[in-house]
Amino acid sequence: MQTVNTLHMLRTALAQLRGQSDAGGGRIALVPTMGALHEGHLTLVRRAKAEADHVVASIFVNPRQFGANEDLDAYPRQLAADAALLEAEGVALLWAPMVETMYPAGFVTNVSVASISDGLCGAARPGHFDGVATVVLKLFNQVAPDIAFFGEKDFQQLAVIRAMARDLDLTRPHVDSIIGVPTVREAYGLAMSSRNRYLSSEQRAAAAILPQTLAAAAQSIQAGLQTISEAKSVAADDLQRNGFQVDYVEVVDAGTLAPLETLGDRPARILVAARIGGTRLIDNMAIAPARG
Ligand code: PAF
Repeated sequence: MQTVNTLHMLRTALAQLRGQSDAGGGRIALVPTMGALHEGHLTLVRRAKAEADHVVASIFVNPRQFGANEDLDAYPRQLAADAALLEAEGVALLWAPMVETMYPAGFVTNVSVASISDGLCGAARPGHFDGVATVVLKLFNQVAPDIAFFGEKDFQQLAVIRAMARDLDLTRPHVDSIIGVPTVREAYGLAMSSRNRYLSSEQRAAAAILPQTLAAAAQSIQAGLQTISEAKSVAADDLQRNGFQVDYVEVVDAGTLAPLETLGDRPARILVAARIGGTRLIDNMAIAPARG
């Protein structure tokens, strides 16, 4: 695996990969990350490897997607350990740019995907999805992958990136080649996240309640035992009783992220964001469309 940190090195390495591809016929997959890799990221890499000939991973802790009071400085950085994990998975190229390379002096452009970025996490983290869209569009332009992989744990992020790709007619990757990969969970159910390492062992034990509450709400909506509004309020109360500060529990159309009051004939999704101690956790689960 080659690790590169300048645009010139990236272009040279990509040209080499594409040269090999031209000879053998091959596709390039991109797995964008902010590092501090866990099994969730490695699952993205494995999916990418199964569907492309060369996997390019990026590691970049993107300052533009962190709010002023968020954990940019504390965010775990472990490039050497991450590179070893990626190499062991057979990644061909690691793109690990410096902040000055991504955002040189004079950088003034902002990519904003209106509406879909505004609610849910966007309401609590103003500007967050502009930062995500801006960096992901840059990564797409820099690498020009045939296909790209993102975790469904960040469900709103995936929807924002797909809306951007659709609206801007991206071709590398095309919106249909932006693949969401199901959330990978700890044995006790918590969705894997680089931020889970901020949790104490007591908080970790308590955090197991989050996916259980979400699954119970999803099942009771799907089975028609509770209305969406009842299920949301029961879930929020349960989480609060268990020491969480709830940011939101919401049921949305899985494609548009529009809030739903009743299940329709399209897939729905239940999403939650809640804090335990100083750590903000997010999770989401599918709700099948109403029958008949
Ligand atoms: O999900 C992440 O790790 C980041 O938001 C991403 C997509 C790499 C953009 O910085």
